[in-house]
Amino acid sequence: METRSQWGTRAGFILAAAGSAIGLGNIWRFPSVAYENGGGAFFIPYLFALLTAGIPLLIMEFTIGQKYRGSAPMAFSKMNKKAEWIGWWGALVAFVISTYYSVIIAWAISYSTFSFNLGWGEDTEGFLFNDYLQLAAPGEFGGFVPSVLIPLIIVWAVVLAILFAGVKKGIEIANRIFIPLLVVLFLFIVIYALTLPGALDGLNAFFQPDFGAIMSADVWVAAYGQIFFSLSIAFAIMIAYASYLPKKSDITNNAFIVGFGNSSFELLAGIGVFATLGFMAGQAGVGVEDVVAGGVGLAFVVFPQIINELPMLNGLVGFLFFASLVLAGFSSLISITEAYISAIIDKFKISRAKAVFFGGGLSAVISLIYATRGGLNFLDTVDYFINQFGVAFIGLVEVVVVAWFLREVKNLKEHANGISDIQLGAWWGFSLSVITPIVLGVMMVQLFVQNLL
Ligand code: PFF
Ligand code: NA
Repeated sequence: METRSQWGTRAGFILAAAGSAIGLGNIWRFPSVAYENGGGAFFIPYLFALLTAGIPLLIMEFTIGQKYRGSAPMAFSKMNKKAEWIGWWGALVAFVISTYYSVIIAWAISYSTFSFNLGWGEDTEGFLFNDYLQLAAPGEFGGFVPSVLIPLIIVWAVVLAILFAGVKKGIEIANRIFIPLLVVLFLFIVIYALTLPGALDGLNAFFQPDFGAIMSADVWVAAYGQIFFSLSIAFAIMIAYASYLPKKSDITNNAFIVGFGNSSFELLAGIGVFATLGFMAGQAGVGVEDVVAGGVGLAFVVFPQIINELPMLNGLVGFLFFASLVLAGFSSLISITEAYISAIIDKFKISRAKAVFFGGGLSAVISLIYATRGGLNFLDTVDYFINQFGVAFIGLVEVVVVAWFLREVKNLKEHANGISDIQLGAWWGFSLSVITPIVLGVMMVQLFVQNLL
């Protein structure tokens, strides 16, 4: 008897997987990573990484989830009892990420409301740390910050309500609304950005190729790192989402759509971000290289400054920018949370309602730490460790176990080819068993050397 939840439509699955992939990583990580790693020339290692690691692993995770019809721990355990822990490891990392990813969405909600009257004032950095986050000295805890706490509670209420509603009625419907809306809002912002004076200088700086850079191993590592994080690979997410696919589903084609869709959004974000940075550099009379930023600094310090200076529609553009962060963030947070909720449901055979209440509830409670006055210090540390060691490490273990220990490549390939239009050739197995392990292995060695020596 088939009792597992299922997506209602193929588009629903594609939008949910794309929703997981398209997130803060596309908007605030990709543009600065590309700029710092060869600019226009970065697209060579980036495309290489997409085709030899990103899409092959996405196909692998989709196939594992669809074939074994289980969340990551269950799917791995059905493949081989001894491999269950890999799924739990991914689910655990997903759990940790969910606790702070939610906090950033909460900030973006606040900032979308500040946009209307440019409530962050002239000193946007001072505003973020002193007025909004009320940051305490390192190690000091001074209770909750209500301005963060309230939107954070809203974030969890929305996410848990969506997950409670289930795969078809919750996750699928949410993504069918969020993702098209996100694309429209974002297109509007990018087109607006392109009309700003100085936009072309920004784009020139962004696309200016430094071909010497691609001779450097660091740049290749950065490209693979970006692809992994950006496609939400190795976090138990894509396996869980694929486990809700019907028996007959085109896996390979879906993976290509999600992979290229995510990269297109990334490119669009790069154009929008650098057009605006070009405008800002022009206003300040400095070079684009002096204003480049990424991460929290880009979104919550630099962008508010830019929004202050826009020639028209400041409030609206600011609102749309932060609303885009909120939509992109929600669709990713839903997927990270579902990754471990589905694992709990499968393992303990409890109802979705209970898993959402206890599993999701625990994340929500832990995330409240970041809404205290000392919270930001914590967030930086946790994020650093997850990014440095979580992504590449699990990815490496996953491909090595699947390709070398369990020798599953042939099995999975036959399964995917049996139900997909595009037929996987030898390149797929080669990418999984040779290219990806080598690149990720080098990446791990490099990270350990950098961090431990
Ligand atoms: N892929 C998302 C992004 O590019 O922002 C980020 C992400 C989502 C990473 C979910 C990890 C994750 F579990
Ligand atoms: Na992404």
